[in-house]
Amino acid sequence: MATLKVPKSEYDLVIVGSGIAGLSFALKVAEAGYRVAIFTKKDKAESNTNYAQGGIAAVTSSGDDLDKHVHDTLEAGDGLCDAKVVREILKDGPERIQDLIRMGVEFSSLGDGRISLGKEGGHSKRRVLHVKDVTGKAIEDALLTNIARQGVDLFEHFFAIDLITTKKLNKLGMRTSCKEDQVEGIYFLNSETDEVITVNSPVVLLATGGAGQTYLYTTNPGIATGDGIAMASRVGLSVMNLEFIQFHPTTLHSAGGDRFLITEAVRGEGAKLIDSKGRHFLEKYHPLADLAPRDVVARAIDREMKRSGAPCVHLDTPNMSVDFKDRFPNVYENCMKRGIDPTKTPIPVVPAAHYSCGGVPTGLDCSTKLAGLYACGEVACTGLHGANRLASNSLLEAVVMAHRGAESVCQYLSSQKKRSLELPGWVDGDVPASDERVVLSHNLEELKRAMWDYVGIVRSTKRLERAHARLRNLRREINEYYWNAKVDVPLLELRNLICVAELIVRSALQRKESRGLHFTLDYPDQLTKPKNTRVSPRS
Ligand code: FAD
Ligand code: SIN
Repeated sequence: MATLKVPKSEYDLVIVGSGIAGLSFALKVAEAGYRVAIFTKKDKAESNTNYAQGGIAAVTSSGDDLDKHVHDTLEAGDGLCDAKVVREILKDGPERIQDLIRMGVEFSSLGDGRISLGKEGGHSKRRVLHVKDVTGKAIEDALLTNIARQGVDLFEHFFAIDLITTKKLNKLGMRTSCKEDQVEGIYFLNSETDEVITVNSPVVLLATGGAGQTYLYTTNPGIATGDGIAMASRVGLSVMNLEFIQFHPTTLHSAGGDRFLITEAVRGEGAKLIDSKGRHFLEKYHPLADLAPRDVVARAIDREMKRSGAPCVHLDTPNMSVDFKDRFPNVYENCMKRGIDPTKTPIPVVPAAHYSCGGVPTGLDCSTKLAGLYACGEVACTGLHGANRLASNSLLEAVVMAHRGAESVCQYLSSQKKRSLELPGWVDGDVPASDERVVLSHNLEELKRAMWDYVGIVRSTKRLERAHARLRNLRREINEYYWNAKVDVPLLELRNLICVAELIVRSALQRKESRGLHFTLDYPDQLTKPKNTRVSPRS
């Protein structure tokens, strides 16, 4: 696909992000005839989506039904899911799977025409459609092919910096026709030319994904720096339930610190976690043992590692129901690259930050509290995941919500009058960003370390306050630097990471109970009436 180099200055819908959420949304709105552009900060396929392994959960077999999927999602969410939202989203799953198949995703089959269904933690039935263990790449490739076919403008290496709103324009003394605050456009840094461009658009969709890079150890690729959450916060929106950071229980332990995911589907096919003495230990923690919800398994591993002093636990694979190499070629290859043959040797594993269950609150149409601003995918918080996401519900949520959101955006656009506002250009600081660059790398290291050490699987008020104090300092330092410097990607990402990390910590301090992914030694019990946390931006 020829990716375009020069954007127009005006679109009906600007989409930030080219993962499953952004691409699915774009296809539907472009089909309705609107001018859509996708901007993405790296190569077009680089996204969390591209690395998804286990698959996409939906009811597609006769032994399964919507009630069971709803039940499992609510159980995993530990009392905090919005039951209406759960049912609404999950019921659309089978139709959206058909869309993916029509777009060319070839889910693994059993060879007799039936789709092969995987099992993961917290699911009472086999319901995870997959393409071996490279489901995300298969979906991303198919969506990108359809984007090219439909001729949707896609711009790589454009980094969204900030939204332009009516309120901002009024502050600059500009006269606007609208009394209500609404989206007017957005600034992008072209990281290949170092130029900042202004794009007019009455609607912006944030499809920027998660924020795993706030932690030292994560399954997420480098793009996951929480940019959309930070941008939404800077235009005054509160975030919801951001304390619920999901730690995936099983990533390959390596001295170098990279954390390659070992999909939960491996346990779904019979692999079991063992401690340093080779004993199974999950039975002690949950009746579903190795297939308990993720928060339970990650906490159990953390506990076993602390108790034994071992640097990892192991995933034992002797009684698997499948041929490992054939079913999990990606995991097999990555283990072999690191000198581990998973068919012969137990795989050393540790938990790592994986998924953000909270985010920018949206309705069931992806709308936010700011007119013209929509959010979809991991950046958003719909109420589906509650305090802990059920495995493989994320890809599903993104594709279902993109469909719903696109319908709503088309309606919004049809109600809008044409705007002809001249938006202000970007004004840079005059200090070259290369000056004192060492501050950036030191601050990034400090941030990731503080989040890992103090805002991890087991928390306490003291640890959270320690992290908060460090983050406040980092924020002051970066703000001082930011307003004087010429912007570049590392600076913009660090500024966003600090903003999101602080929002995570402030959300965690607000929750005075232990629920789902948020476990704190100071409040080990659950409140009888669970509430969502909402944290507003710092003024
Ligand atoms: P992403 O796919 O992360 O896309 C975000 C996009 O936004 C990227 O293109 C990025 O470059 C762009 N972007 C970000 N900031 C900016 C900016 N400032 N300017 C411009 N562009 C920007 N979920 C499942 O349901 N099943 C699974 O099997 C599964 N496996 C996973 C395995 C791994 C290793 C990981 C990391 C996650 C997995 N997940 C899985 C979670 C799931 O993949 C993600 O939640 C989902 O793909 C998020 O999709 P998204 O479109 O919201 O974001
Ligand atoms: C996995 O394959 O274990 C990840 C699935 C998910 O995050 O939903």
